[in-house]
Amino acid sequence: MRIPIDRDSEIPLYQQIETYIRQGILSGSIASGTRLPASRVLANDLGVNRITVENAYAELEADNLVHSKVGSGTYVMPSYPTPSLPKDVPGAPWPLWQQDLEASRGSRLSDELETQITSSRHPDLIRFDSGVGDSILFPVEEFRKILQAVLRRDGLLALEYGDPLGYAPLRSTIAHVLASQGLQTNPENILITAGSQQAITLAAQLLLKPGDAVIVESPTYARVLELLQTLQCRVVSIPVDDQGMQIDGLEILLQQHHPRLIYTIPNFQNPTGSCLSLNRRRHLLSLADRYNVPILEDDYVGDLRYEGHALPALKALDPGGRVIYVSTFSKMLMPGLRVGFLVADGPVQASLLHFKRMSDLATSNLAQRALESFVTVGRYQAHLHRACQLYRKRRDTMLRAIRGSLPAGVQVCPPQGGLFIWMRLPEGLENDQLLPLALAEGVSYAAGECFFNNRKGGAGFMRLNFAAQSPERIETGIRRLGKAMRRLRPFTAK
Ligand SMILES: Cc1ncc(COP(=O)(O)O)c(C=O)c1O
Repeated sequence: MRIPIDRDSEIPLYQQIETYIRQGILSGSIASGTRLPASRVLANDLGVNRITVENAYAELEADNLVHSKVGSGTYVMPSYPTPSLPKDVPGAPWPLWQQDLEASRGSRLSDELETQITSSRHPDLIRFDSGVGDSILFPVEEFRKILQAVLRRDGLLALEYGDPLGYAPLRSTIAHVLASQGLQTNPENILITAGSQQAITLAAQLLLKPGDAVIVESPTYARVLELLQTLQCRVVSIPVDDQGMQIDGLEILLQQHHPRLIYTIPNFQNPTGSCLSLNRRRHLLSLADRYNVPILEDDYVGDLRYEGHALPALKALDPGGRVIYVSTFSKMLMPGLRVGFLVADGPVQASLLHFKRMSDLATSNLAQRALESFVTVGRYQAHLHRACQLYRKRRDTMLRAIRGSLPAGVQVCPPQGGLFIWMRLPEGLENDQLLPLALAEGVSYAAGECFFNNRKGGAGFMRLNFAAQSPERIETGIRRLGKAMRRLRPFTAK
């Protein structure tokens, strides 16, 4: 325990120690049940007499904040804390610089909606709003064994910072996997990141400054919209249809806005689920080349394909240096691993590495080593195969349930892969009325507003995750959604 003590103060040392621990207990930062350091140890750490610490503990015990067990130690009493955050203390406002931050932060719609959903009181909420697959597929036991084996094999090495570019064998493995998908790259061009979110953030921080225009699909991934807002960039939206970004409108936007970046999700786009056609991929690359704009390609669930043929990544069609490719193990494996990566060529790669170092020095070494073992022994492919089979059935279950239980006015475009079904609501229905009713019925979804730069554009859309729930719960959830819709408008029954 590091207790700042002032030897020149008039306040006796035992009292300084006592006050410090008392504040910790009352604020909750020293949890009830915590064993305080033995008086001899603390006295030694602080360079004070043991009696001084014992006097401090005696004062705390007299006030019932701690109790000592003979032969065991001194423990913080149960029933504390009663957390009193500084802002709850009357007359103690946040410092001005903090108040400025609060005023300039603005609201984040996806956080607000998340709070609305998590504060639902329904005892059995079926969550279609999630952004990941089903945790029952997480290979917990296999991963535990692999972690143990890695620690046995690599010992302390696995616990060092490691290479900022990423664990070399994992980069080689990723290069092999990408090559099998038609994307030839060197392991040196791969940078391992803490999820693809970090890769996107690094690229945006490197390439953009306040006021810069960025072309994004509309709708698009909500956290990228928030990132661009935070970086004070101008978002220029280009609509998406069942073939991905509507490329015909791109050139005029490039001429009008001179964007510094194009962000695209070509496979199973979040939220619409659509895939950018091959023609459009080529067209996008040639326009980006002509107008000298980098492309940030986010391939977050490219491997979760249930039918149709995989199309080449933009990066694979790129003759060199135009595309920064980003992918992740979060959706195909486990989001908590926090392992993603980017592939970049040319000077931008070295700059991204520099930004990565400034951001967090390196991605978790242990997680990377375990992941490398998992992928190398072929477990990853087996896992992917299982996930695709399961999610395809769930997608079909949800599509059937939508046809059977929702009013005729809803429109969906069945996705060939990924995690989401994007749905247009019947004319006149909007999320601000529907979501509270759906939550009351016991079902949640991601409201369309999160995915549009002009939020209102999404009022009549929702994103439904079909991968994270069992078929039974999908059917029940969609029935509940239908009930909520009918409470708003008495549609004719199907
Ligand atoms: C389109 C898209 N890109 C990137 C991410 C970031 O995922 P992660 O940081 O877990 O790799 C997400 C997460 O939901 C996503 O939906």
